[in-house]
Formats: sequence, C-alpha cells, structure tokens
Amino acid sequence: MVYKIRGKKRLKGSVKIQGSKNAALPIMAASLLAKGCIILHNCPKILDVYAMLSILKQLGCQVRWDGNTVMISTDGLFSCKVPEKYASSMRSSIMLLGPLLGRIGCADIAWPGGCPIGARPVDIHQMALKKMGVHFEISEKSIFAERKKLHGIEISLPFPSVGATENIIMAAVLAEGTTIIENAAREPEIISLCNFLRSMGAKISNDGKKTLYIEGVHKLEETEFTIPDDRIVMGTYLTAVLGTGGEVFLEGDCTGELGMLVPLAKETGAIMICNEKGLKVNMKEPFHYPARIVTAPYPGFPTDLQSPFLSLFSISGQICTMEEKIFESRFKTVAELEKMGANIRICGQKAWVYGKQYLKPACVNASDLRGGAALVLAGLFAEGETQVCEISHIRRGYQHIDQDLRQLSADIEFIQE
Ligand code: EPZ
Repeated sequence: MVYKIRGKKRLKGSVKIQGSKNAALPIMAASLLAKGCIILHNCPKILDVYAMLSILKQLGCQVRWDGNTVMISTDGLFSCKVPEKYASSMRSSIMLLGPLLGRIGCADIAWPGGCPIGARPVDIHQMALKKMGVHFEISEKSIFAERKKLHGIEISLPFPSVGATENIIMAAVLAEGTTIIENAAREPEIISLCNFLRSMGAKISNDGKKTLYIEGVHKLEETEFTIPDDRIVMGTYLTAVLGTGGEVFLEGDCTGELGMLVPLAKETGAIMICNEKGLKVNMKEPFHYPARIVTAPYPGFPTDLQSPFLSLFSISGQICTMEEKIFESRFKTVAELEKMGANIRICGQKAWVYGKQYLKPACVNASDLRGGAALVLAGLFAEGETQVCEISHIRRGYQHIDQDLRQLSADIEFIQE
C-alpha cells in the first residue's frame, strides 16, 4: 500500500476531524470497569482501535460497530490474558493493566509494541500500582499482575507520564479509599478519560491540573459517551497548510486543545480563527520562519507533531531547531526526509534544520505513525510526485489521511498494490 502525492499545491476547503486515537484507546480499555453495555460515538476506524477491540473480544467482550459508533458488552469478560499477537501491535495494550486489576484482580499482558520511538519502559506504571497493592511477575515475554485488594495512595510521579497517569486512574476508581496523584499528566486525553469514568459514576476531580484526586467507589455503571476529536490530526493538517499556503477550515471540537500550536502558527504568519466548531486558517505565503521548538508535556509543544514540523522546517528557507525532550529516539524520519533533499543535522536530542525553498520528490518509507504523516506532508511540500510506502504505520492513527487531504484540494491517491 502506497500514497502517491503530487505536491506544491495550495490547500483550500474544509474537512471534518476524526475522533481521537489517544482518547479512544484508554476509554475502550476503561469500559472493562463496568458490567453491561458501553456505547462510544465518534470512534475513529483506525488499526489501533481495531486492535484494542480485538483484545476486548479475546477477553470475552462482545463488540459491534454502527458507523463510527461502537457498542462494547463487557458481561462476558472471563479472561485477563492478553496474548502476544494482540499486545505487540501497539503500546496501548498496557492500558489494560488498570481496568483488569480493578474489575477482576489480575492481568497477564504480553509486552506492548507500538512506534519504535524509544525504550518506552513501564516502571512508573509498576511503581504506582505496586503501592496500590498489586503484585507483579515480569518475564521477558509478559507482565503478570494480581491483587487481593486495591487501596488508594498518595503518589508523586517522577515524570507526568500519560499512560501511567491513565493506568493509576483506572486502578483507583474502584480502589478502597482516596488516591492523590502529584505531577499527573495534564493532556486533554486525561480529561476525556476522567469525563468517561465520571459518566460511569467515578469520583474524580482536578483532572487536567498537576494534582489529581480520585475517591474509590464500589461499582461503576454502563454508559454512553462521545469520543472528542483528535487534536494531533487537527495539528497535522494545520502543519500541512502552514507549508503549502492556502485557506482551510478544520472542523472539530478540539481547537481548545492545541496548546501552544495556535500562538506559534500566528507568529509564523497564519491568520487563525478558533471556536468550538473548528479552526479557520489562512496562510497567505508558505512558512518562512526561523523557529526554535522544544517538545514538552501538555500544554507544551506536542511530541506527536515533532516529525510533521521537521517536514515544515525543511522548506522554511531558514535555520530552525527542534529539540525532542519526551522520547529518546524519535528522529527516524530524518533519513527519509534527507532522500527528499532536506538538510538536517542531529546533535543528541536536537535537530538543526537548514531549510530550503522546496523538497524534491522521492520514494520514502514510513517507520512510525507520526513520522509517516510527516512524509505525507513532505510530499505536499515537494515538486513532483512523491511515493510514501509502509503506510500501515500511518493507518494506525489516521482514519483516512488521503481522503481528508483530497478534501483540502491536495493531489494524493491511495494505491492498494
Ligand atoms: C502517549 O504515550 C501517547 N500514546 C503518545 O502518542 C504520546 O506521544 C505520549 O503519550 C506523550 O504525549 C497514547 O496515548 C496511546 P508517556 P505514552 O508514558 O503513554 C517515559 C502517538 O503517536 N516513561 O507519557 O507511552 C517514556 O519512555 C503516540 O499517538 C517512562 O520512563 O507516553 C517516554 O520517554 C506516540 N516510564 C515518556 O515517559 C514509564 O513508566 C513519555 O511517555 C512511562 C513512560
């Protein structure tokens, strides 16, 4: 499967942003915490969501789609074992630790997979859950965890890990007593998970701030919930129009979750109007700005847009720098961008980009989800026809990036071959 992109076209038009991958995955895992039927609207039809739903079915749940609504019946939950063939396809299989421990008291999860962007240890997850009363047996193949009783704790995280914060919340909602998480992750996906859990009867407060409070309850109830739109997909398409120039409307309820992206885009010349309906962007001239960016936990610059911004810097005609402070090896896409003529120097965790006026077309390979999206954007910025291969990485998180970009007047086609 390949995307063929003919670049150097200004973008125009409007597109509806898909539901959020990083909100949907922990929410689907959290659905295990209640017996009954969980109805989730605005679910993105992406490979990681299909993988998560396959795991839930493997554990005994029933799953049914109706458009972008998925119904999960958890009455039949009978197993806590997540085999390697499911767990290894994505990082989010680790999200099942908290819900399985909360609902049935054990979890046996093969080591998670996911984007090769770093070691991605689970020491913070383990440290917190152990304090809550969980016993772990770690082997090279899997993580086995069990508990007699989960009790609330006060814990300060050494790093505001998104996944660890989510797992602690999902273990704490049915624990005995109160849990206080200091230095909690503040990403919007934490808030949407807490909104989902509150709709089931959980008692959580202060989510989105540094200190999060959870008061354990005895039981959670089935619920119906709408997944928020995907802020990283919106940010990806914003990056695209910054590079091509043009005028687009990105329809989505996540404009308030773009953090520093909006002021940064305005600084580079974009005229932007943000409201609850979406984001209107007018970029008269393509990006031509000496940017200095450092990735950081929310509300800082999102690491998930680091690679797309490297593509943008490559055609800036300026010297730009990107420092990656979240994952230790997330510059793999640089080698592919260099095939398109990009001039990038990596020094430790910092990329120096000597931007040119344009990129040249090439045949490039995606090696991870956001790096793949960055190569699609590079194709939009290049003269001629670029082919992006290994696009299954991209389809893990983008429901139909080609269809969306065509709606914004890009010349991109999906070749099944
Ligand atoms: C989530 O990953 C997202 N994935 C990532 O998006 C995102 O990049 C990341 O948060 C940061 O925002 C999902 O939500 C499914 P972390 P997660 O735990 O939870 C270290 C995408 O492209 N760490 O905040 O794995 C870790 O190694 C994906 O959509 C530990 O050291 O991120 C990393 O360096 C990629 N020990 C840093 O923290 C731990 O126990 C951030 O990891 C846990 C994490």
